[in-house]
Amino acid sequence: MVIPPSGSSSDPSSIIVVPAILLDRMSLYSLSHLPQLIYRMRGVATTTRGLEEVAISEITEIVGKNARKAHPGLVTFDCTELDLFMLNFLARSLHRIIMLLIEESFSDAEDIYRKVKEVDFSGYIDENQSFAVRAKRCGTHDFTSMDVASWVGQAVIDSFMEATGKRLTVNLDEPDVIVRVEVRDEMFWLGIDTTGEVSLAKRGYRCFRHPAPLKPTIAYSLVRLSGWHFEESLIDPVCGTGTIPIEAGRYACDLPNTRDVSIYHLPFFMQENFLDIRREHQVINRKLDVLGSDINEKFIQGAKKCARLAGVDVRFMRADAREIPLDYDVIIANPPYGIRMGSPRKLERFYEAFATNLRRYEGSWRCAVIFTARPSSFVRHMGEPERELDVLYGNLPSKVLIYR
Ligand SMILES: C[S@@+](CC[C@H](N)C(=O)[O-])C[C@H]1O[C@@H](n2cnc3c(N)ncnc32)[C@H](O)[C@@H]1O
Repeated sequence: MVIPPSGSSSDPSSIIVVPAILLDRMSLYSLSHLPQLIYRMRGVATTTRGLEEVAISEITEIVGKNARKAHPGLVTFDCTELDLFMLNFLARSLHRIIMLLIEESFSDAEDIYRKVKEVDFSGYIDENQSFAVRAKRCGTHDFTSMDVASWVGQAVIDSFMEATGKRLTVNLDEPDVIVRVEVRDEMFWLGIDTTGEVSLAKRGYRCFRHPAPLKPTIAYSLVRLSGWHFEESLIDPVCGTGTIPIEAGRYACDLPNTRDVSIYHLPFFMQENFLDIRREHQVINRKLDVLGSDINEKFIQGAKKCARLAGVDVRFMRADAREIPLDYDVIIANPPYGIRMGSPRKLERFYEAFATNLRRYEGSWRCAVIFTARPSSFVRHMGEPERELDVLYGNLPSKVLIYR
């Protein structure tokens, strides 16, 4: 389906009802923005493969619209331009948010070219702006993602030329507009990237090197999967850089993403609205009982610095996960999975001692969520979880194990 350009607000068919959940949030802001915010569009967000359910519930919570898993790591939804902004500003499980223009199957290169050329890009790119295509491909194909980028780039130039008589400039290093394409098996999704080159997973608070830091979008998703209530105590006993406690803190206090993203620079959006909302956003001041601990003092000092940079008030201390009292409501852990632990036997002994400590406090914790690339080692000592999710972490098959 090629999605037509958004209608104007005077076109009644483009007007959609603003849901109560959004009105709730909007009451913080000036309702006078509303008339300009109700263009109907479609969006696609990229997220971690295996954690789409968190992305879907987060999208619904932030913008009040249903979302659905379109493919592993891809979630689509109806939206307005305000929604695209709100997701860039508040979402914690999403990597990129794309204003969707095409969601289609394809047969070959020629087919992709033809479908992209059908879109009138003059509605999205100004004749004085440069653009670049960023393509990702996944599945078995006889072409590369570079091939896709080049066919799509040509189709964008040809469509723009047909519509305006002008030739668009390509700038691969610093484009004004990024056209993003995700080719997955026999389907492709194409749109205008509202996030930009830098994924929302890069929060900007990680200030020291750790051999195996967790992606903040995954850390946040683990917190969500635990069903943590903000008044409950929470511990990550193998915290490394502190990503899990920090993401819990950002979530509880509704700390937004203040980084620059593409949507602030796309001329067909009403930037003033975004800036007003950004200015009026209220961070929630909550007293939290969140602790991160790690056996390595250097990491504890680093995690404290990261938390300060992130602006969250969570505690860190040095402790051994095999012995620390685990009498917390919620336990979330991303234990070591090999490379740095030395021998597999040493890793197995650690998992056994950690699981024994967790079991010692069974009954005092409500939920324990373990994210590991060595699930069988953990399950061997802890027993079967109530629920497990398969997650692809980079190229590493991993699991979320949820115990209650
Ligand atoms: C995979 S990393 C955790 C990364 C962390 N989630 C982050 O985002 O930075 C595992 C951590 O377990 C810690 N660790 C290893 N053995 C431990 C033990 N016995 N007690 C506590 N922490 C331990 C390591 O120092 C390392 O920081």
